[in-house]
Amino acid sequence: MRFLLINGPNLNTLGKRRPDIYGTLTLKEIEARLAERAAQRGVEIRSFQSNHEGSLIDFIQAEAEEAQGIIINPGALTHYGLSLRDALEDCGLPFIEVHLSDIQARESFRRHSVVADIAAGQISGQGWEGYLRALDALAALVREEGRE
Ligand code: DQA
Repeated sequence: MRFLLINGPNLNTLGKRRPDIYGTLTLKEIEARLAERAAQRGVEIRSFQSNHEGSLIDFIQAEAEEAQGIIINPGALTHYGLSLRDALEDCGLPFIEVHLSDIQARESFRRHSVVADIAAGQISGQGWEGYLRALDALAALVREEGRE
C-alpha cells in the first residue's frame, strides 16, 4: 500500500516557524517519524512539500494512480485552495486532512476548510502526532474497503 504525504505552503519552515503553535520538529523529522510508523504498518510513503498550489496539483496528478490514499496538510490553502480541492476530488483517492494546530481555536479565517467536506477525515490540533493518527486511520479505511 502506498500513501502520498503532501504538505503545502510554509510547512517547509517547521521547526523555526511559530514553534509555540506548530511545535519544534522540522518537516524532515516528522516525515522520518511517519515513515517509521508506515513501515510498521506495511505502508510506503511518498512525501512532497511545495509552497505552490500548482506544484501540489502536479504531484497529485502524477502520483495518484500508483497510490491508495493521501495524507495532506494543505497549510493556508486549506482555507481558499479551490484548485487543490478539485485535484483531490478528481484523483478519487481517500484523503485525510491534517493540521498541527487546532484550526477551530484560532483566527476566524482558519475555521473554514474548503476540503473538509470531501475528506475522509480531519485531524486538527494534535501536533505532529496527528500525521501518525492520519496514517493509522487511512490504512484501516483502505484495508476495510479492500482497496489495498
Ligand atoms: C495549518 C493551519 C493553517 O491555517 C496554516 O495556514 C498552516 C498550517 C496547521 O497545520 O495547523 O500553514 O494547516
